[in-house]
Amino acid sequence: MRISVVGAGYVGLATAVSLAETGNEVCVVEKEMDKLEKLKNGISPFFEPGLEQALNELIRERKISFHQDLKEKIHNSEIIFIAVGTPSLPSGEADLSGLIKVCTQIGKLMRDYKVIVIKSTVPVGTCDLAKRIIRENQEDLYDFDVVSNPEFLREGTALKDAREPSRIILGCGSKKARNIMQKLYEFVDAPVIITDLRSSEMIKYASNAFLATKISFINEIANICDKVGADIIEVARGMGKDKRIGSDFLRAGIGYGGSCFPKDTKALIQIAGHVAHDFKLLKAVVEVNNLQWKKVVEKLEFLLGDIKKKTITIWGLSFKPGTDDTREAPSILIIKEINRLGGVVQVYDPVIKGPVGGAFEGVTFCTDPYAAAEGSDAVILVTEWQEFLNIDWQRLKKGMAQPVLIDGRNVYDPHTIVANGFYYSCIGRPSVENRGFVKESMVDVYNIAEKRWNIS
Ligand SMILES: NC(=O)c1ccc[n+]([C@@H]2O[C@H](COP(=O)([O-])OP(=O)(O)OC[C@H]3O[C@@H](n4cnc5c(N)ncnc54)[C@H](O)[C@@H]3O)[C@@H](O)[C@H]2O)c1
Repeated sequence: MRISVVGAGYVGLATAVSLAETGNEVCVVEKEMDKLEKLKNGISPFFEPGLEQALNELIRERKISFHQDLKEKIHNSEIIFIAVGTPSLPSGEADLSGLIKVCTQIGKLMRDYKVIVIKSTVPVGTCDLAKRIIRENQEDLYDFDVVSNPEFLREGTALKDAREPSRIILGCGSKKARNIMQKLYEFVDAPVIITDLRSSEMIKYASNAFLATKISFINEIANICDKVGADIIEVARGMGKDKRIGSDFLRAGIGYGGSCFPKDTKALIQIAGHVAHDFKLLKAVVEVNNLQWKKVVEKLEFLLGDIKKKTITIWGLSFKPGTDDTREAPSILIIKEINRLGGVVQVYDPVIKGPVGGAFEGVTFCTDPYAAAEGSDAVILVTEWQEFLNIDWQRLKKGMAQPVLIDGRNVYDPHTIVANGFYYSCIGRPSVENRGFVKESMVDVYNIAEKRWNIS
């Protein structure tokens, strides 16, 4: 089939690659000139494992092409995917201005039947809005269908996820569009769920909100573990064995970030608000997440005291490993707070090598994890890149002013770290830390029992 994909971001490019690889003729439309030039030359505009190689093969085989304007290719396209960004407005609502522009243009240019597929994450009712906009902008009445096909890929494994999705959700209003979309996704070995437009749009938000809830839930349990002397790793292990709970997304840490969970949770709260529903649970999930990154700074202050003029090393800047995306990354907030408290920051990230769009100004970027820790009073692991899992602890310790390690992702074996002479702190594991938390803050069961049941 002949396909256009509008928006060459993570979703647009992964979609374009997977569809071009399965025998379709794909044209990618990207409005930003610098991104477009890179793509035409086979260069990925962002870090995503395997993407550049896949693009180069497809360019060589002439299965994919890149254009700045949809009008160059729309008449040659049977299906148009819209994968533009839908970032948060200050109110928390999704900004649909990019999507509305594309729909307006499609309406104006359309001369025959097209299927318009909305891949961007959009509030419930947006596909109906898209239909209206397209219809209102048509010169003559051409038949068309709008399909909701939300995307579930994860940055860092975007290509794999697009090639082997866990499920395909298709919100379709017509049989014609449904048949076309089912044929397009014939290559997929996963359930295809056909539903109505609004349910499809809601599936995306509900999925992300649920995953965010799991993260905030386990983080709250970890915060309590810190105070009562339980170990969150053991707790999550025990919980995860229950099939009804599952072990995924039960890793406590410094909270979620990235371009999806923060904006989609806020947008769903707004969607609910528009129909007079106060989504209390999701509001709490967001609030917990907004506080979670602070835990590492609290632990830093507990271990070092005043951090004024102290040098602090940050390992990892992206919101998760495998990507250079720093949108809503906890690293930004942590670094800002350390700077506010008078600390000096040295960083190392395997793929981010300098300030990004106003973030990380004034920090020192180093060439490797050891250089970043040179003369430092503490290392904070913020993003658990593979490179940080194979550290020579003695070499690290030698270079540091004080051997303090704060593990924001609970990835290290505490016994190894402590045996190497470090002061170690992580999230929700007071019993394995070697200083302070247990004795100072652990719940005193005997004292409570004495008061309540008058035992002695
Ligand atoms: N990134 C993810 O992991 C992910 C996963 C699932 C769903 N989503 C959703 O998919 C959508 C896209 O996300 P993304 O991360 O790929 O976004 P992105 O910001 O990385 O990319 C969007 C691209 O669209 C381009 N664009 C905007 N308007 C355009 C226009 N009129 N014509 C041509 N190009 C235009 C932008 O220049 C940008 O390159 C969002 O709604 C997001 O919530 C993202």
